[in-house]
Amino acid sequence: MAFLSYASCLKGFVSLKLSSFVHSPKAPWLNPYLPPPCEFASVTLAFFNNGLKGLASDLKKPLGLAHKPRRKVEYSMPPEKLEIFKSLENWAEKNVLTHLKPVEKCWQPQHFLPDAASDGFFKQVEELRKRTAEIPDDYLVVLVGDMITEEALPTYQSLLNTYHGIRDETGSSLTPWAVWIRAWTAEENRHGDLLNKYLYLSGRVDMIQIEKTVQYLIGSGMDIQTENNPYLGFIYTSFQEKATFISHSNTARLAKHYGEENLARICRTIAGDEKRHETAYTKIMEKLFELDPDSSVKAFANMMQKKISMPAHWVYDGQDEDLFVHFSAVAQRLGVYTAADYASIFEFLVERWSVEKLTGLSGEGRKAQDYICGLAPRMKRL
Ligand SMILES: [Fe+2]
Ligand SMILES: [Fe+2]
Repeated sequence: MAFLSYASCLKGFVSLKLSSFVHSPKAPWLNPYLPPPCEFASVTLAFFNNGLKGLASDLKKPLGLAHKPRRKVEYSMPPEKLEIFKSLENWAEKNVLTHLKPVEKCWQPQHFLPDAASDGFFKQVEELRKRTAEIPDDYLVVLVGDMITEEALPTYQSLLNTYHGIRDETGSSLTPWAVWIRAWTAEENRHGDLLNKYLYLSGRVDMIQIEKTVQYLIGSGMDIQTENNPYLGFIYTSFQEKATFISHSNTARLAKHYGEENLARICRTIAGDEKRHETAYTKIMEKLFELDPDSSVKAFANMMQKKISMPAHWVYDGQDEDLFVHFSAVAQRLGVYTAADYASIFEFLVERWSVEKLTGLSGEGRKAQDYICGLAPRMKRL
């Protein structure tokens, strides 16, 4: 039993393996309104897969550890660059923290869920279950994958705290960078919480399987190759926030199509948060491009050469070594997150940071600029 195994997450369809989904011509997610299996699939998997295959031999499975070989730590930001982040503190206070919402103005998961303290709770749950009864399995697979990705939040906060010059040195530091990291985490924390409770109440998924998968994923961490370097880190977060915005927007669109307006509202609302985060991270990079175009363009090229790994690329349910590849194939097929999205995010960022117009670059910087500018049309052709 793999992840439904993703299929094992879905009660009633537990005998279906996701791997058999992928290869079956009668795959149950092939709804008539959906686009046919996309020719981009193998391309996307190449983007997503990023060295995942064939590395499972030395797994220390019980703790979700050493899922893949660990890389030697690299520190690619020269120490003198620390000054840039110090000098940007006032700027960050006025330009970055403003993209966070005060807690009292934030939505909370409970705003979208049956109220267990009210008399109408059981009726509300019954209604929710009626509305979710007809949602197709493949859609739930993707929603479960999105939820598990959000639930691995401790990994993302840990990662931000590896970046020299911005990390939270004490756990309660008042530098704007550290405040951002904690408050961003607090905003993100509501995403997994809400999706988790919604899926639990739906009764459509195998929660034990899901909870185990979350535990494995947090235990395993991730390797996005940002080398403790905030230039690389902010390129990654800019890309990733946009990717989650697209993905949650698409699950909203599909939920609406299935007639589950409340779920559509949930996904739209989460997408709204991701949009604010994307704005903040792309703004930080915009500032770095202005102050230090050479390092910024080299960082951008460096991350694109490595390919942007998805945060849950090491997802594992205790059984399926290729779970992420299988999940990605379903997301691709449903049109929730595709190779075309990857390319469009890249194109958006190239434009957003006016990479083509950068001047005063070193030889290496110009090479990086050429690489970036040549990559957009290549990706489009693919
Ligand atoms: Fe999120
Ligand atoms: Fe986000």
